[in-house]
Amino acid sequence: MSKGSGKPRETWGSKIGLILAMAGNAVGLGNFLRFPYIAAQNGGGAFMIPYFISLFLLGIPLMLTEWALGRLGGRYHRGTAPAVLYAIVRHPIMKYLGILGILLPFIVVIYYTYIESWCFSLSFYSLMGKFQEIGAMASGTSDPGAYLKPFEGFINAFLGRTSPGFILHPSAAAYIGFLIVMVINLYILYKGITEGIEKFAKFAMPLLFIMAIILVIRVLTLKNPVDPNLTAIDGLKFLWEPKIQGLTNPKVWIAAAGQVFFTLSVGMGSILTYASYLKPKDDIALSSIATASLNEFGEVVLGGSIAIPAAVVFFGIAGTMEIASEAFKLGFVSMPAIFSNMPLGRIFGFLWFFLLFFAGITSSIALTTPIITFLQDEFKWSRGKAVAVIGVIWFLLSHFAIFFRDIVDHLDFWAGTVGIVFFGLILVLTFGWGLGKLERIYKEINEGGYITLPIWFAGIIRYITPVILIVILIWFVWSDISQAFSLLSQGAGLVEAFKASKILDFFSLPALISKMIIIGLFVFLGVMVGKMREFEETPLSES
Ligand code: ALA
Repeated sequence: MSKGSGKPRETWGSKIGLILAMAGNAVGLGNFLRFPYIAAQNGGGAFMIPYFISLFLLGIPLMLTEWALGRLGGRYHRGTAPAVLYAIVRHPIMKYLGILGILLPFIVVIYYTYIESWCFSLSFYSLMGKFQEIGAMASGTSDPGAYLKPFEGFINAFLGRTSPGFILHPSAAAYIGFLIVMVINLYILYKGITEGIEKFAKFAMPLLFIMAIILVIRVLTLKNPVDPNLTAIDGLKFLWEPKIQGLTNPKVWIAAAGQVFFTLSVGMGSILTYASYLKPKDDIALSSIATASLNEFGEVVLGGSIAIPAAVVFFGIAGTMEIASEAFKLGFVSMPAIFSNMPLGRIFGFLWFFLLFFAGITSSIALTTPIITFLQDEFKWSRGKAVAVIGVIWFLLSHFAIFFRDIVDHLDFWAGTVGIVFFGLILVLTFGWGLGKLERIYKEINEGGYITLPIWFAGIIRYITPVILIVILIWFVWSDISQAFSLLSQGAGLVEAFKASKILDFFSLPALISKMIIIGLFVFLGVMVGKMREFEETPLSES
């Protein structure tokens, strides 16, 4: 097998560094911001059973699949999906399907970095006592909704969302925070796999877990100043008391599966790229499960014990569900309101937002790695050149998310919701069927393993995960377009009805611009993929 040309390709420096970098890839805003509101929106305990079933039947098999595919690609000195999928199934379409493994994480990163930068800026606002100042304006009211109002006003002003309309006018603080966060991201990426990503993860991940544990302890000892009957335990019960009604509600299943995908970063291609920096005989069986376990500890244990219980103590269960009905309110409105009202609230507020920033940045560097690795592997670009070119495109495209309303929603729907499930399906089908027999998958997942996974694990990857993913995809598409059909049947006009569906909407500006960004990037990557260096090696399925 030819090993490619040029400088030797980097590999992870140490086992612990690899696991922390992979955990950094997975643990992100999804764990501390997205999980609490999705869980609360879907009924807390009613959400958790579908969540764990999705984790075992979709999340962990996909995690292992991406580790395996990445390690296979690394043997060819190629670490992105177009090359890896083509290495297994020698049909040109595989290269083009593989584009999704570069495109999806890059689209996510366009809005993700901006949200990450809010956390960075807000951590300093907290230290400066801004939340106490706002809290003082609201004090005296006993109505929780009225107490939250000025905090909502502050966040809306910070992001420039106070007036309706398509164009947003973010504050200078939000924009400067974004610039700083971009520079930090690019610097880490420029330093490379071991000197940048791995070194940063070794320092950031332990610190992130320590900050989260301090916050959990603080939240679990919170008391409602007026009603001593409301405690954080009520919040934990809300999340952990299993309720079986979730099992019969397809919406809860879809939300659970979507959350598992997003939080583990599977179906995106970024785990695959990180795994391509493994050595050919490195363990993947235990390491992939360890990564998923660390992520789940960060999600259900830590992520589940901060924003939800804190909100329940102050606003009750009904109030928390109401707050969670809006995506960012739990993390960006209710948490600052709570910090404004507690001793040392400035410090805890800082810890909360800095934790989010750390969680975010270890993921945003991972989401940008596939496109950088692609340019390095396939075109022999230097890392500096790849980071500079991608940095400019990333910076420019972020402005759509910063200055135009609802772009984040649309990009998140296409890349962070539907796209990752679709690409997850492509990945399990390629790994589960493209290599040949079940025994070959079994051999591949256990190659170099510190543990031996049973053959039925390979069976789940080959048979069960793809079937569930197909059902979810059909449901996703149907639930989106059925909204348009139901409006049509009520006599609405075509344009109005289509605007109710993210898939069919070609009329509203956010939908149109988001689709143009996605299609534009796809075409750009398509042209690049057409120029990828050739494969001389035998197909992996025959080797
Ligand atoms: N997995 C990353 C997160 O949870 C993308 O935020």
